[in-house]
Amino acid sequence: MNLLVTGGAGYIGSHTAIELIMAGHDVVVVDNLSNSTRAAVSAIETVTGRDVTFFEYDIRNDSRLDEVLACRAFDAVLHFAALKAVGESAAQPLRYYANNVAGTATLLDGMNDYGIKTLVFSSSASVYGDPDTMPIGEDSPPDPKSPYARTKLITENLLHDLHDADPDWRISILRYFNAVGAHPSGRIGEDPSGVPNNLLPFVAQVAVGRRNCLNVFGDDYPTPDGTGIRDYLHVVDLARGHVKALDYLAGAGGVSVHNLGTGRGYSVFEVVHAFEAASGRKVPHRVAARRPGDVAVSWADPSKARDELGWTAEYDLERACEDLWRWQLTHPRGFSTRKA
Ligand code: NAD
Ligand code: UD1
Repeated sequence: MNLLVTGGAGYIGSHTAIELIMAGHDVVVVDNLSNSTRAAVSAIETVTGRDVTFFEYDIRNDSRLDEVLACRAFDAVLHFAALKAVGESAAQPLRYYANNVAGTATLLDGMNDYGIKTLVFSSSASVYGDPDTMPIGEDSPPDPKSPYARTKLITENLLHDLHDADPDWRISILRYFNAVGAHPSGRIGEDPSGVPNNLLPFVAQVAVGRRNCLNVFGDDYPTPDGTGIRDYLHVVDLARGHVKALDYLAGAGGVSVHNLGTGRGYSVFEVVHAFEAASGRKVPHRVAARRPGDVAVSWADPSKARDELGWTAEYDLERACEDLWRWQLTHPRGFSTRKA
């Protein structure tokens, strides 16, 4: 298939572009490089051995949409482009709504004009908020706790409305749990700008000596060791979920919603120990105050994706730590400084 990947220079989009190309698809990447670099696209080419057409383009810019959408007879769009920092979204809600919601509406309008009506959308487990029961199934009522999470839920609702108005649309909504790890080749991985917000990139930067100490945000949660529990999903497994979602859409109309997670939760201390084992390095850490907005536990019930998409996560946390460490060691400052 001819596929357009928005946000394809980003962490999950770039790994997904690799899996799509390996599955035989032709991929065009658009990204405004607001949270990524052109080097990620070069890395996709290196890993796959294939040229990738790239447009440095903002999905909100409808005057350039024709240029992108007319370059191929696209069969589907995989839409990753979004801002994703939860704390920042509380400080800059207009920027998040403009980018994530209005940007998606502009993209959908263009797709509609070109008769491209198949979409895979990157949603988030954050739409569930803080449910009472674990694991979290897709029928758990949404209760987003941040502007970022609300942009995801609003976009999901927009997609349902779009399909109600025009049943020709085929839409897969994927609610990701915590994406971690890097490509096993060591040539591509997460390259967060500034201080990482997320646990694994921070842990990796401490292990490599770029940062001194990890702050563990709270050890007084109602969990066995007192730290927060999450469902950490290897980014390559996550990427492969998109290949399965596309296959599924080829046979099913409508709007589908699937969790992508492992079904297993790990505490912050367990993650630190797993990373220490994978890297052979100590990860100095100290307990700090809880981070506002964090929930105690979150892990997926991934059985719907298993039953309907034929997808299950294959890699475990240990493997994710090993792959992340390989990437971190060879690229201590991300794509900007590569060590042999
Ligand atoms: P990322 O920031 O690495 O990738 C997003 C990419 O989109 C970046 O390269 C950025 O430059 C680009 N982008 C942003 N706004 C754009 C715009 N207006 N036009 C063009 N490009 C734009 O983030 P990621 O971790 O790869 O996340 C990908 C998607 O998955 C996002 O939609 C995110 O909300 C969602 N998600 C991520 C996680 C996670 O654990 N990382 C979890 C749940 C959902
Ligand atoms: C966050 C977002 C979520 C988003 C995901 C990926 C919130 C509430 N949720 O998930 O919407 O999809 O990132 O971008 O922000 N931790 C530390 N020290 C750190 C960093 C994290 O102890 O320096 C702890 C956290 O308290 C949490 C766990 O590690 O218990 C995971 O945190 P993180 O990686 O930021 O992911 P989430 O908060 O689960």
